Amino acid sequence: MLKDLLIKYNKPGPRYTSYPPANFFTKNFKPEDYVEALKSSNNEKPDSISLYFHVPFCPKMCHFCGCNTAKPDNKNTLEAYFDAMLKEISNVSSLLSKKRKVTQIHWGGGTPNSVAFRFIESVTEKVYSFFSVSENAEIAMECSPAYLSHTYIKKLRKLGFNRISLGVQDFNENVLKAVNRSGPKYPIEEIISDIRSEGFDGVNIDLIYGLPLQNRDNFLNTVKKAIKLRPDRLVTFSYAHVPWVNSAQKILEDFGLPSSDEKLNMLLTAYHELINSGYEAIGMDHYALPNDNLTIAKREKLLHRNFQGYCTKETTGQVYAFGSSGISQLYSTYSQNSKKTSEYIRLINEVGYAAVRGYSLSDNEKIIRQIINEVMCNGVLDFNELSKETDISVEILKKICNFDKNKFSEFEQDNLIDYSDEKLNISDLGMMVVRNIAMTLDPNLAENINLYSKTI
Ligand SMILES: C[S@@+](CC[C@H](N)C(=O)[O-])C[C@H]1O[C@@H](n2cnc3c(N)ncnc32)[C@H](O)[C@@H]1O
Ligand code: SF4
Repeated sequence: MLKDLLIKYNKPGPRYTSYPPANFFTKNFKPEDYVEALKSSNNEKPDSISLYFHVPFCPKMCHFCGCNTAKPDNKNTLEAYFDAMLKEISNVSSLLSKKRKVTQIHWGGGTPNSVAFRFIESVTEKVYSFFSVSENAEIAMECSPAYLSHTYIKKLRKLGFNRISLGVQDFNENVLKAVNRSGPKYPIEEIISDIRSEGFDGVNIDLIYGLPLQNRDNFLNTVKKAIKLRPDRLVTFSYAHVPWVNSAQKILEDFGLPSSDEKLNMLLTAYHELINSGYEAIGMDHYALPNDNLTIAKREKLLHRNFQGYCTKETTGQVYAFGSSGISQLYSTYSQNSKKTSEYIRLINEVGYAAVRGYSLSDNEKIIRQIINEVMCNGVLDFNELSKETDISVEILKKICNFDKNKFSEFEQDNLIDYSDEKLNISDLGMMVVRNIAMTLDPNLAENINLYSKTI
């Protein structure tokens, strides 16, 4: 039974939005290291550029939130923040080759759509004047429906945005009230209809399960309402309760959180409802319609993953992040800007760059990253193929990822994988616990595995 399988494999482990994961980043990384990394990235792959803009502001804080965000202290903070971001764009772009194309732009936060539109406009204009943006670039914003008006949607489209991700979280007003979240400015179905009529290519809905007052039955209602709106993509996030990181989450304990058994019921009910309604599981709580680019990429084994979530190999590039806490994911180096907004602004104004943590990958780690990415996204690992591509023998590749076929016997008995002719294929069932399979190919897995959240 699927439920027994999920319980069996519900162990702590990384989510592998990067390899090695962000907890490997060291503080021994300075703005000048980022400058060197930026220069080197011009000669590395992929050649295309993904830009990420982080807006760490929300007018009202949801008690469950695990993102890097806060209420802005005053209007001057917003001015100073976006002013710094414009400087960061000039500084970073001055080190990148003008021949390289931007294929993806992603705005996240916080709530980018809660700030005055002129800030979004000035950053976008700067991007267009300093970079060469591909005609087919994917340009997306994570939006909270609480601050989204038809006019705002229209303006985003006019500026070139072609995807919107809507943080619905739950349609149940009582749940939203319990977590201190404002409901949508106008009904979600009208918001989606406006997004479609303005000509956006795609819309995504985020839901979250594991919040106070949620149970299998009322979460199923939320999922059904979301399905009725036919978003191209839908994510059901498992609520991560980490009150030692975000003390506001403690407030939710007073309401009482659903048990882990009830959480599992919500996950499974959502999964079955979505699959029975024609959605395909992309992996790790992500679903998409059969004609969506992500589903097509998954079918063609061309799916990719970065800190912003799943993407296609066609649109993704090396990721250059702007704003506080932004993580740049370059071929050889990861680096993260200061999480403190005031420190970010100060560093940009005084030094020009704000990286404070980072990591340089060894050659072996680049190979392991490729292996883990193929497993996590495309459910496959073909040693012969990889050997041809990297010019490294199968034997050495296996050593690099500490490959041990014996670690697979339990997965094979549970029908999660098939391993033959040096090729690992993961079944649809196996993709439900793919993180556990990837962990067996990670020789760097931290000794203290409890640092990570559980699989579900
Ligand atoms: C940057 S946030 C949200 C964008 C926007 N501010 C909103 O709330 O609609 C992206 C997503 O992270 C998810 N999220 C936030 N806190 C979480 C937590 N503690 N555990 C799991 N998912 C979380 C939410 O589902 C949210 O839609
Ligand atoms: S609006 Fe989004 S980013 Fe802001 S506190 Fe709520 S979940 Fe977090």
